[in-house]
Amino acid sequence: MDEEFEGYVTATPYTHVYYPESAPSRLHLATFNRSIPFPSSRPLRYLELGYGNGVSLNIHAAASPGEYWGTDINPAHVATANSLAAASGSGLKALASSFEELLEHPDLPQFDVIVALGVWSWVSDANRKTIVELLRRKLVEGGIFCMSSVAMPGFGELTPFQHLLRLNLKRGGTGGTIFDKLASGLGLATALQKAGSQFFAEESRAGRMLDGIKTSNPNYLVHEYLHEHWRPSFFAETASTLAEAGLRFVGNGRLLDQFDELNFGREALDLLASIDDLWLRETARDFLRSGHVKTDIYVKQHEADRSRPPPRSALDLEFVLGVPALLAKTRKVRMPVATLEFGAPPFRNIIDALGAEPCRPRSLKELIEECSSGQIDKEEVLRTLMVLVEADIVYPAQPRARVDEAAPACSRLNAEILRRTLTENRIQALASPVTGGGVPASRIQQLFILAWNQGARSPDAWAKFGLDAMDKSDVDKVNVADILKEALYFQQRLPQLAALKLIDEA
Ligand SMILES: C[S@@+](CC[C@H](N)C(=O)[O-])C[C@H]1O[C@@H](n2cnc3c(N)ncnc32)[C@H](O)[C@@H]1O
Repeated sequence: MDEEFEGYVTATPYTHVYYPESAPSRLHLATFNRSIPFPSSRPLRYLELGYGNGVSLNIHAAASPGEYWGTDINPAHVATANSLAAASGSGLKALASSFEELLEHPDLPQFDVIVALGVWSWVSDANRKTIVELLRRKLVEGGIFCMSSVAMPGFGELTPFQHLLRLNLKRGGTGGTIFDKLASGLGLATALQKAGSQFFAEESRAGRMLDGIKTSNPNYLVHEYLHEHWRPSFFAETASTLAEAGLRFVGNGRLLDQFDELNFGREALDLLASIDDLWLRETARDFLRSGHVKTDIYVKQHEADRSRPPPRSALDLEFVLGVPALLAKTRKVRMPVATLEFGAPPFRNIIDALGAEPCRPRSLKELIEECSSGQIDKEEVLRTLMVLVEADIVYPAQPRARVDEAAPACSRLNAEILRRTLTENRIQALASPVTGGGVPASRIQQLFILAWNQGARSPDAWAKFGLDAMDKSDVDKVNVADILKEALYFQQRLPQLAALKLIDEA
């Protein structure tokens, strides 16, 4: 196999991580919060550019009915994505084409949603141009584009580090596999640090980063740092390039990033409020956040269409609790300006309302009514739900008819993921027809679901099944005490797993 395609390293596959921000239901929530209608006039047409192993794409194709396409140039990715698609029978078309070839595909339809996570800042200018052309030709009017990029200024200071790793790959002369070359580059950086490099000084950001990444997944590191064209992107440059295809910025794909009041203090809020220009304001946010990766949502909407009616009432949006209420209330999220305690109002009120027996999805209207005694208004209910969604405690739920439609493909895909988990620890999510997306599930939790499906009904029996599977596979073993703890958690979570249709009725 060629080691690179137009400067993008293809010598090894990427990780199997599931990315919830590209789920249609999450995109719907994110756009709804910005008063942008989510395309809904016919079954959704969805395209993922650079789908990696296709874990997210397969989960979305199975869980959220529609027509799904994707493309990737790495043969190992194409094989994995297609084997999952064959198992689920979702009809996903996981192509083995470059972006350029995709542009010329004779049957490529117009899409309502196009996503490109981990692509924009990692490919060449020519490929970025092709992506813009794909968006111009193949995204419908009113269509949504979700993309992630390496953010400026947050990651800009690591550009020299990436340069060093890439140069070492090309000129280091070490031979060996791509992992040997990665290790040699990291070794050079560490040697420079020891030799007194000011850039890698231990207290510097690059120095701390270097220490941190030594324990990262090597497949991730290869795909993050070793490409020829890796380049952190300034928001306004990206927004201006995408404007050539008629796209305009809607907001952040990470729901928590949509709420300035959760992210910035008073002084920063006043400063942001004083900036009228949208691009300058978003750039100012990027300077305040200084994050590494930025996930953004754009809509294809011409000036003249901006007067279109706002999305339908939110009151019939539904939500479902994904973890037991008692446990959910012990969690917290540390935000830059405050820690959000889920055991306190308004989180507690929403969790209690969603946790009431029987465990089932509840509409925003029901939740607002339940919370009215706690003086929590509609806006706050919605914001609280979004925080809980981002924390993987609550999920948006699809209408009943879509749940029924998605259930068979989800069940087949999950059976395949569970089968693989007996011998490997890669995919850590399952497809829920209720949420229309993926739900995180560690290997041990997946082994318990397998045990459950085979009739085991006690924590001891689940733990024994998990231990046996781990002994046989010899992959990422977990100690006995931790397995028992996990089995007790599994027992508590049975009602939620059933409500998410990840197991049959509890
Ligand atoms: C960092 S990975 C991200 C994968 C996936 N979107 C995810 O988030 O897990 C970037 C992907 O883009 C693919 N890619 C890079 N250049 C491409 C091109 N010119 N045409 C098609 N796919 C490409 C790579 O093979 C890789 O799978």
